[in-house]
This record gives sequence, C-alpha cells and structure tokens, in this order.
Amino acid sequence: MRLRRWRWIALALTLTSGTALIAASAAASVEAALQPVSRWWQSLSTPQLRVPEGWPRPQYDARHNPVTRAGFELGRRLFYDPLLSLDGSIACASCHQQFAAFAHFDHRVSHGLAGANGTRNAPPLFNLAWQSSFMWDGGVTHLELQPLAPLANPVEMGETLPAVIAKLRRDAEYPALFAAAFGSDHIDGQRFLRALAQFLATLISDASHYDRVLAGRESFSAAESRGYATFQQRCAACHAEPLFSDDGYARDGIDNGDAGRALITARIEDRGRMRVPSLRNLGYSAPYMHDGRYDTLDQVLQHYAHGIRDAESLDARLPPAASLRDDEIADLLAFLDTLNDPNFIDDPRYAEPSAR
Ligand code: HEC
Ligand code: HEC
Repeated sequence: MRLRRWRWIALALTLTSGTALIAASAAASVEAALQPVSRWWQSLSTPQLRVPEGWPRPQYDARHNPVTRAGFELGRRLFYDPLLSLDGSIACASCHQQFAAFAHFDHRVSHGLAGANGTRNAPPLFNLAWQSSFMWDGGVTHLELQPLAPLANPVEMGETLPAVIAKLRRDAEYPALFAAAFGSDHIDGQRFLRALAQFLATLISDASHYDRVLAGRESFSAAESRGYATFQQRCAACHAEPLFSDDGYARDGIDNGDAGRALITARIEDRGRMRVPSLRNLGYSAPYMHDGRYDTLDQVLQHYAHGIRDAESLDARLPPAASLRDDEIADLLAFLDTLNDPNFIDDPRYAEPSAR
C-alpha cells in the first residue's frame, strides 16, 4: 500500500512540476514503485547511440547519420512493417521479437515467406553498433547494409530494394515520414537503410544486474561470484567483457556442415568458425547456437563440459574436455543469469509503434 501511495505522489510531482527531475531524486529510495512513472517518461525520449561507462567506442560511426527522433521513429516503423516483404506478410520483427531480445522465439532456424525455412538461427539484436561484422559468418560488414540480406533472401522477405522503395513512395504516409527525418520527401535506398540503422544502432542493452554490480550499485551472490570467476577463466577469451564477444570467430565444436566463416574467406582454417555471440540476454533468446540446436543453457554448458570432441580443429581457448564440474556449471548458469536486462525487452521505445 505504501508503495502504491508513493507512486501517486511521484506521478503528481512529475505532472505538476513538468520535470522528471523531482521524480528522479525520489526514485533513489523507491525505485521499484516509480517504475511506471520512469517508464512513462522514458517512452517520450529517443534512444541515442550513447557509450555506456567502461565500454569501448562503437564501431558504427553515426556522424553521417545522427540519430534524430524522426529518423529513429521512421526506422522503428520500417522494422515492424511487413510491407518490406514480397507478399506483405513478413516484417523484420517477425523473426526479431522484442520479448526474445529480438531473436526468434522458439524457432531453431529462421522462418520466412510462406513458411519457408532458412538454415540458421536468428540472432538476438542489441549492441550492434559495437560489432564490426554481422551474421554468423560475418558476411556483412556495415550495419547500414545488413537489412539488404534478409530483404533479398528468397526464404526470408523475398523482395528487392527498388521494389521496396517503390512501395514506400506510393504509400500514403511514408513520404511525410521521410521528409520529417531527412528534410525532403524523396525516398531512396540510402535514406531507407539509414533510418533502419538509426533504430538498429540504438538497441543498447546495458542495464543488467551484472552492469549494476560493475557500477558498484549491487553485488553478486556467492554463486554468481564463483560463476563469474569460472567464466573469466574458461569463457572470457572468446566471450570478452563488456560485450561478451571478442568480435571475432571461433569453432566451438558445433558442426552441422555449415562452413561458417569459410563461406566468406574461402580459407580452409575458417571452416565451421562462427561469429562469437554475445552472452547478454540469453534468458530470453533461446534456442542457442547458429543452428538453434540447444533449447536450454544447461544443454549448452553440457556441450562445453562433455560434448566437444572434434580434436583436430579444436580452438585452444576452449575449456579442456571434461574440465567443467557440475558445481561449476551451476555457478556459471547463475552468472549467465545476471546478464539478462529486463528493461531492454520491456523498453516501450523499441516496441511496435501503435497501429496506423
Ligand atoms: C525470416 C526471418 C528473418 C527476417 C524477416 C529478418 N531477419 Fe535478420 N536475421 C535472421 C537470421 C536467420 C539471421 C542470421 C543469418 C546468418 O547468419 O546467415 C539474421 C541476422 C540479422 C542481423 C545480424 C545480427 C548479428 O548479430 O550478426 C541483423 C542486424 C538483422 N538480422 C536485422 C534484420 C532486419 C533489419 C530485418 C528487416 C529488414 C531482418 N533482420 C529480417 C532472420 C531474419
Ligand atoms: C573458443 C572460443 C569460445 C570459448 C572459449 C567459449 N565459447 Fe561460447 N561460443 C563460441 C562460439 C563461436 C559460439 C557460436 C557457436 C555456434 O553457434 O556454432 C558460442 C556460443 C555460445 C553460446 C550460445 C549463444 C547463442 O546466442 O546462441 C553460449 C551460451 C556460450 N557460447 C557460452 C559459453 C560459456 C559459458 C563458455 C565457457 C564455459 C564459452 N561459451 C566458451 C565461442 C567460444
């Protein structure tokens, strides 16, 4: 009851003063009670390509494409619009769902036009501005070019860029939205891709329990601390903090015949190497691995503990066979749990815009 009263007091303060500052100072003591107010306030702001404390500089250079409210909102609308696909049935968001940290819930491999299946698991989307390459094999090297791949893929959206641009030009609302974002109602491929990039680059997830522990505001439980220590010894060489990926490629004993990185470099030694995925938000983004073969994190860890056999091509950074004890696995699971960011998957600014 007390919490509820606080919520109303805070709401009244915010409304009467017209500033969030008072609510923000009250929030320090009753953070939980203030959630609805801060969320309401947050929904009015535009996400920016900010650099969280202690993170490296982003790879994506937004100087030629600064994030604006109109540009971000246009990108968001495009991301959720099935008009981008050949038959108007598939949006980017069909395979990248916010509640799944923008992965595809319950789908091992992507599922596109007319129910056709692709061959790889849709990765979650966040902190993309820090990636120098995209896709499991790194086949795309610029965030602004990434949307061209699913757009043209016959089992994903099956469309061409010129056809999408023509549809957008004929649309009743898009010309005005492009004018608001870019200064004139001209619609072309570059503007289309830049608007999408404004949405993609600002999908930043940095508000997990782990982040608050590093900022000194919360602390790890005993199991989480032990898991963190094991993680740093056994996993961090590839899943490097704070992004939980070294932005490189590795073979971690998962083989389903997908040549991975070698498809791009044509080098024998890259056969089966995949982009090292982030480990943030795993609690939402199952199933796991490039082919979605594992439904649970326990299965992934059993793989690291017992399943890696391909001796000839093993990466020296992997934990040696049978070197993870069951108690270490339990602690690792506790640590991985600290990387979930519920604010990110609930952030109203990334949600589907209200229907037109
Ligand atoms: C039919 C399902 C599907 C649709 C529709 C789709 N994607 Fe994807 N997306 C995938 C899959 C699968 C991958 C991984 C492909 C690979 O590695 O070969 C992927 C990869 C990506 C990546 C790279 C992520 C990373 O970490 O490397 C981005 C960014 C992305 N998609 C954005 C988009 C955007 C923007 C759209 C709409 C224009 C879109 N996707 C439409 C399934 C889909
Ligand atoms: C040699 C580098 C390397 C090491 C060391 C490593 N991983 Fe990985 N990890 C990868 C690669 C590469 C993938 C993607 C493999 C694939 O899909 O084929 C991956 C995938 C994962 C996934 C699935 C993520 C997703 O989104 O599908 C999890 C979870 C994971 N690793 C956890 C760990 C843990 C925990 C450790 C330590 C016990 C660890 N990894 C050690 C390279 C590594």
